[in-house]
Order: sequence, then structure tokens, then C-alpha cells
Amino acid sequence: MSAASVLFVDHTGVMGGAQHSLLDIAESNREHGAIALMEDGPYAAALASRGVRVIQLAGGSALRAVKKSSTVPGVSAIAATVRLAYRLARIAGPYDVLYANSPKSFLVATLAGAVARKPVIWHLRDILGDGHFSGTNTRVMITAANLGAARVVANSHATGDAFVHAGGRRSLVTVVHNGIDPAPFDSLVAGTRSIARAELGVADDVFLVGCFSRLHPWKGQTVLLDAIARMPSAHALIVGGALFSGEAPYEAELRARAELPSYAGRVHMLGARDDVPRLLAACDVVVHASVLAEPFGRVLVEAMLAGRPVVATHGGGVPEVVTDGETGVLVPPGDARALTEALDALRRDPARVSQLARQGAVHARTRFSREAMLSGVRRVLGEVVAS
Ligand code: UDP
Ligand code: GLC
Repeated sequence: MSAASVLFVDHTGVMGGAQHSLLDIAESNREHGAIALMEDGPYAAALASRGVRVIQLAGGSALRAVKKSSTVPGVSAIAATVRLAYRLARIAGPYDVLYANSPKSFLVATLAGAVARKPVIWHLRDILGDGHFSGTNTRVMITAANLGAARVVANSHATGDAFVHAGGRRSLVTVVHNGIDPAPFDSLVAGTRSIARAELGVADDVFLVGCFSRLHPWKGQTVLLDAIARMPSAHALIVGGALFSGEAPYEAELRARAELPSYAGRVHMLGARDDVPRLLAACDVVVHASVLAEPFGRVLVEAMLAGRPVVATHGGGVPEVVTDGETGVLVPPGDARALTEALDALRRDPARVSQLARQGAVHARTRFSREAMLSGVRRVLGEVVAS
């Protein structure tokens, strides 16, 4: 991809959207690059299967207790950050640039970059503020970025604007939207919908609404359950796992609700899956229900690529991905009544469903291509290395 040699850094071993997106970027840099991870897990395996060299820094478990909402960093987390930074600095020698894919890895990389005298790029995939991060964490991240980042690559204008609003330097920011490889969606066939439904035990004529997000309160699965409670014949497919620590009680709450007699088996909780394209194809409509501003929302593009219309909550980067009435429908966050109305309107109007899906599919392919994302990142790498 680029002649620059890049040492990517990430803090987690599991596959969230940030990690799915980095797979493509790291793969396209694998000839001259590597990735340093703080935890082992499926992410390391996915990177290795794409031919990316994975270097285990280990020691990331001490950072697990630090949450976006934490207000006081524990002494052990600070000590772990410094330890990890020294480990990273020791291996940074052969690389031109450090490229951090998360807030935690950016803090480690920015210290390592100072020690090893390497420029640091932060791929910012979070909205700093808007209820996601505590004030303390936002201030720490902004200060570190203003002092230590050569560039901040934001996954949407909303993410970049939130960074600037919180005090980040505007001149650091370049927006590079996520791009998604359409190949797994192109291989879906006309019969996929029925085949996938048969496996799920959902009849072809049932109105099936899917939600494909990790299980976390801000992803708003409870709002979808509230909407489904008002639509007695509709079924809901809830796909995604509780990826990060502390989310188990939310999963338990959702599973308990799904079992309530009032839903009469209409809520199907599938957990984390690796066959998202065909499950998207099983649905009539895909709901993205985040109650806090979504930085980007890869699933929105994936739904469009699968030819399924999205009903998404208006906030964050979502309006940059979905245009209300053209490529999907936008509703206010946390409003089960509005969600029900939007879903019901689509249920009654299959022609509109087809039109939104057709327009969405073209939009996703032209505006959110993997190539455009890779060339945006390549440009930033080139500029940073040249300076
Ligand atoms: N995903 C998956 N299996 C699941 C649920 C989600 O592979 O069971 C993928 C989904 O296809 C998408 C990513 O996880 O590519 C989630 O990214 P998104 O940007 O939508 O949300 P995030 O979790 O990063 O906030
Ligand atoms: C983060 C965001 C999500 C975004 C993904 C990829 O996980 O929560 O909105 O799509 O990163 O950039």
C-alpha cells in the first residue's frame, strides 16, 4: 500500500468494528509493516490469517479495568501504560511511523513515540464526549493528541468535529470514512434469505428485523425490543456478543427479556457470529439503534451491501452514511415509538423497501469502498513520513 513501514498498535484481542476496519489497513501494509498487540485472541488470529506479522506486547490485561467512563486512572493502569510504552519503543526502531487504532493504544504509542522519536498517527474511531467518555479521559486524550500526534485520522466528520470541540487541534484531523469489501456480499445468492431463515426457524413471510451490534447499552438493543413488543407479528434477530468486560449483565438482561412470554419466541438472540452477510440477507430491515452518537457504524454499510434497508438512529456519523428517505430511514435515538412507526411503514410498503435497498446498495459501493479508505490512509502515511 505505502512505502512507509508502519507499526500498528491495538489494545484488544477481540474483534470490534475498529479491529475489523484495521484488518484491511494492516493487510495492505503487511509487506513493510507489523502490528503490536497487548492481548492475544481472535483478532491476532484474524490478522495472522491475512499475512500480517503480529508482535505480542502482552501485559494489556492491566488496562482492561480502565473504561471510557473511568474518572480516576488507577496507579496500576498508569504503570502498565508506561511499561507497555517502553516495550513498544524497544521494537519501534525499524519502523517509520506508529499507527494507533484505539485510545488506549494511542496513549501507549504516544509515550513510545516520544522515547523512540517516531511520529504517531491516531486512527480515532470514538466520539470524544457526547456521553461516551468521562471528562477526565477526554482531557487526557486531547492533551496527548495535541502534544504527541502527528495526525488524527477520524472515521467520520462527526468524530473529527467532536475531537475539535473537545479541544483537539483541527489541523491534526483528516477524515477517512470506513470502506468495506463488497466481495462477501456479492456472493450472496437469491436463495440465501430462505436458507438462512430455515436455519433460524423463521418462516419466509415473517417480517424479520435484524440488529447487528455488540451487546452494550449504548447500542440500544433494548429500544429494538420495546419496538418489537409493539409489533405482535414481527420477529427480531439480535446478533452480537458482549465483547468487553462489564457487559455481561446487559447480555443477561436482554436474554431474560427475550424469553418473556409476551415475545412468544419472536426474539432470536444469536450471540457473536462470523457469518454476518448471510444473516443480514435473512432480514427484511436492519435496525441500528445506538442511543449515543455512533462514530461511524460499519454495519450500516454492510446492510446496504447486503441489499437491506436500514432504520438507524440520527446521531454522530450516521447521517454521513445514511441519507434519510434515500438510502434508509433515520429516527431519533431512544424513541421506541418512532422506531415502531418507521418499521411498520416499511412493513406495509415493500416497493419502498426495494427502492431504499437499491439506492443504498449503489451508495455503499460508490461512497464506502475499501479502496477509497486505503488510499485515504496511504495519503496520510505518505504526508507524515515525508515531513
Ligand atoms: N460483527 C460481527 N459479528 C457479530 C456482530 C457484529 O462480525 O456478531 C461485525 C459487524 O459485521 C461489523 C462490526 O462487527 O463489521 C461492528 O462494527 P460497527 O462499526 O458497526 O460497530 P462497533 O462495534 O465497532 O461500535
Ligand atoms: C468504532 C465505532 C464504530 C466504527 C468502528 C470502525 O468501533 O464504534 O462506529 O464504525 O469503530 O471505525
